[in-house]
Amino acid sequence: MNKRFLFTFFATSVLAAWALLRTPPGRFVWRPRDPNAPCVALITGASAGIGAEYARQLAARGFDLVLVARRGDRLQELAQSLTQTYGVNVEVIAADLSQEADVARLEEHIRAMDNLAILVNNAGFGTIGRLVNSDPVRQQEMVYLHVMAPMRLTQAALPGMTARKHGAIINVSSVAGYVRLRGNVNYAATKAYLTAFSETLQNELLGSGVYVQALCPGFTRTEFHFTPDFAKHKPKPYPEFMWMSAEDVVRQSLDALGNGQVAFVPGLLYRVLVLMLRIPVISDTAMRVASLWF
Ligand SMILES: NC(=O)c1ccc[n+]([C@@H]2O[C@H](COP(=O)([O-])OP(=O)(O)OC[C@H]3O[C@@H](n4cnc5c(N)ncnc54)[C@H](OP(=O)(O)O)[C@@H]3O)[C@@H](O)[C@H]2O)c1
Repeated sequence: MNKRFLFTFFATSVLAAWALLRTPPGRFVWRPRDPNAPCVALITGASAGIGAEYARQLAARGFDLVLVARRGDRLQELAQSLTQTYGVNVEVIAADLSQEADVARLEEHIRAMDNLAILVNNAGFGTIGRLVNSDPVRQQEMVYLHVMAPMRLTQAALPGMTARKHGAIINVSSVAGYVRLRGNVNYAATKAYLTAFSETLQNELLGSGVYVQALCPGFTRTEFHFTPDFAKHKPKPYPEFMWMSAEDVVRQSLDALGNGQVAFVPGLLYRVLVLMLRIPVISDTAMRVASLWF
């Protein structure tokens, strides 16, 4: 191998890595053209973790908010503090989005809104253990919460957003949507749905002024791994460098909104990982080997 070949190979690899790993700036217009137009963001799963952080960062950008989760008391506390700090209006809706009646109620609420700029479908939970031993009711709730609820709320939001030619829909998916490890069957499958749903929907909405993002975080420090669904299992000792803060995850998501990367992976580590997982020969082998341990 001569020097020129090595140099070309190295330069091409660096350029390819840069093209694949960079984050172009988002093109989402943060305020509608009319600066007096009301601007509301609705966030599901806003009582904790990533959802509560979206609420804080969107309030800081001047958005009025509708916060949704089961624990209404937590939402009220957050609403009060955001109103005090940022002077925004915050509405609280207590709802269990794994249940048809509450999804239908929220769907109606969204259809009646004439000022919804951002919908964040974030509510979610994980379980541990193989499907064969899992509680079927809890698994069904997961599928409803991660698949049916975001799909229905998105459909309800679209007529208004497309008519106003302005809007964004963020579906909080996961790196897990690319991972096929045992013990995670419905979590991986529902998150893969959310990513594919978002990517396909964005293609339908090209030129409409409405942007879609499937946020695919890796391990994020929230209450996620401390819910009753994880109670019987010791948390796995994943190394510190694998964890991101909810603050960083949400900041990167909002900065990238509308940048063409519909499936958006925050953090360089996870971006490289997802890139590798999308190469079938690497992914299949890695999953088979890793499944021996998990
Ligand atoms: N943390 C991570 O490592 C990680 C990584 C990748 C993706 N994610 C995804 O990020 C999203 C947010 O999770 P998080 O990490 O912020 O976890 P979290 O701190 O446990 O927050 C989960 C939120 O979802 C809400 N929620 C759960 N079940 C609900 C239901 N049936 N109806 C309505 N709301 C419900 C919870 O509120 P209530 O309990 O008050 O209802 C809470 O506000 C999830 O979709 C999760 O899959 C998390």
